[in-house]
Amino acid sequence: MTKILILNGPNLQLLGTRKKEVYGSVTLGEIRRNLQKVARELGVELEFFQSNHEGDLVDRIGNAKKEGVDGIVINPAAYTHTSIAIRDAIEGVSLPAVEIHLSNIHAREEFRHVSMTAPVCIGQIAGLGPDGYEWALRAMARHLSKKEKNNNKK
Ligand code: DQA
Repeated sequence: MTKILILNGPNLQLLGTRKKEVYGSVTLGEIRRNLQKVARELGVELEFFQSNHEGDLVDRIGNAKKEGVDGIVINPAAYTHTSIAIRDAIEGVSLPAVEIHLSNIHAREEFRHVSMTAPVCIGQIAGLGPDGYEWALRAMARHLSKKEKNNNKK
């Protein structure tokens, strides 16, 4: 079964209470439960990991292929704007990734306009709140099924 890794970076464990005017009141647990429902509909398997530590995220990305992961959905949170290590990990593992942000990072402070990670992802979803995770998962599942169809044609 297709396996998709859902990665969340620093402070996203605080969703639900953190800066509600920006991030809303949905918790990471609720996002996870919704994604599990969508995954059942799509017939894909999910793995979840949240960490406040850059190296733990880098390790998880680097090991993803060995662990049978086919694609990554990632909200690198603040590391989006700073982490060359996470960018290199995504590029290095050669798995497709979709970047997701709850808020529209392009409409916020200037330092959030730059994403280190987006250029090594197949796309970015930002500003659609918690629903963005669902769109990111659907986009990844669609990408992987197209890839599989193309491989079968070869
Ligand atoms: C975020 C946007 C980042 O700029 C911020 O540091 C976060 C959350 C988002 O989902 O909107 O922690 O990634």
